[in-house]
Amino acid sequence: MIKYIVSVLFLVASSLADINSRYFPSNFKIGVANAAPQIEGAWNEDGKGETVWDHFAHTYPEKIVDGTGPDVASDSYHKYKEDVAMVKAMGLDYYRLSIAWSRILPTGYTDQVNQPGVDYYTNLFAELKANNIEPMVTLYHWDLPQPLEEELGGWLNEQTADLFAEFARLCYQLYGDDVKMWITINEPKQVCQSGYGTGILAPGIVSDGIGDYVCARNVILAHAKAYHIYDDEFRATQGGRVAMVIDTLWFEPGSDSEADKEAAERILQFSFGLYGNPIYIGDWPQVVIDRVAMRSTQEGYAQSRLPAFSAEEIDYIKGTYDYLALNHYTTHMVNATEETAIGTPGYGADISVREWQQPDWPPGAASWFSVVPWGLRNLLVWLKNTYGDIEIVITENGLSDTSGIMEDDHRIYYFQNYLSNCLDAIYEDGVNLSTYIAWSILDDWEWTGGFTSFLGMYSVNFTDPERTRTPRKSATFFTDIVKNRCLVDTCTE
Ligand code: BGC
Repeated sequence: MIKYIVSVLFLVASSLADINSRYFPSNFKIGVANAAPQIEGAWNEDGKGETVWDHFAHTYPEKIVDGTGPDVASDSYHKYKEDVAMVKAMGLDYYRLSIAWSRILPTGYTDQVNQPGVDYYTNLFAELKANNIEPMVTLYHWDLPQPLEEELGGWLNEQTADLFAEFARLCYQLYGDDVKMWITINEPKQVCQSGYGTGILAPGIVSDGIGDYVCARNVILAHAKAYHIYDDEFRATQGGRVAMVIDTLWFEPGSDSEADKEAAERILQFSFGLYGNPIYIGDWPQVVIDRVAMRSTQEGYAQSRLPAFSAEEIDYIKGTYDYLALNHYTTHMVNATEETAIGTPGYGADISVREWQQPDWPPGAASWFSVVPWGLRNLLVWLKNTYGDIEIVITENGLSDTSGIMEDDHRIYYFQNYLSNCLDAIYEDGVNLSTYIAWSILDDWEWTGGFTSFLGMYSVNFTDPERTRTPRKSATFFTDIVKNRCLVDTCTE
């Protein structure tokens, strides 16, 4: 608690002198995001099937901080019109949301289509259209239909990639007239490294340094298949755009030494590059190929734990993007360190660096979360230097806290300073950043954080059956930014 109060005082006391006072470019778009499993609730209503997250939370409540599940969440399945009205009131361009695979295809397969689920999203898109808000739609925000996990082993099986592609085709058919911004997969790193590596997220498979890489390969193939389907069958008539969202922290070298710079670059390649390189450049990053092969040999494996892509697959995956979509929240410092001893394989050991956060960085809710606005600018410049002048869309950025206070000055500080660094990146560094989507419009069910960490500009009363929404101070601040297209009182062109 003391730490929290100190951080709020620090933030409020910080000066506005550093905030960029240029207007946002006239074509710059701003929006807010959320995801089906975190806000919809209605987990088994109107024919929706069980997801890995429903199953995980119901079977292992001890793995969720407060033992809760996504059963009702923010009740957006029933209150979506209210959510759209909130987005409208803030004057936003985009509402980023996700389609729950198991609401449309309860078992994951295309043999049974659940009409009430189809209708729910039809109505939601109609409501957005009536309010002149563009949908940005994620096809997979971690909610694998549970039967695919039980019957096929989920993302450890390449067949799941084919089934996902069929689901994507169905969504393009159903909603492609209304949706022009598609996201295939949200944060494959969390899906794989946490879902099939450490096992801290659903489905909770522990296979560090093996299952996570198999998953990565299949998720990337799933994305590429869904991209090609859009390209071949829908792009000409629907004219939309498709990308995969990749998340990463910024990793700042702990010193100017070559060893620390190399360590920071290495962890960036294992973090963003593992998923970005196959799509934006072709194949896994060389440093990832080399290090996993080296350690696998030393561990006694006959072949690398990192499954290879064939030459045809490399070609098929390369170029499957229409923009670069990034989720980013915070920064870590990085040092070179001794090579982790050979023993049990693991993703962390494959990277072998030391990470830490500076003690004077204001904290957010989770132990991994500090407020480091300049990290975003450095990351944007790194993306430009590494992948070229691709249009970048920030699909998530926001502050998580544990207090849920309504006078959320620390969140205002976060948005103002992170957005200021976006403007610096655009105007000073020539980064082709077109869009900023804040996480989140409203409080939600935060996965293993349950209802104990808050990111919403609108609070949700989770003990009230009505799940009443109330704007926090940051909602007013953000609305003003959108209206004035400026982060300070007076801006220049
Ligand atoms: C995820 C969101 C989550 C957010 C804040 C991101 O990793 O995409 O689903 O709510 O982080 O924790």
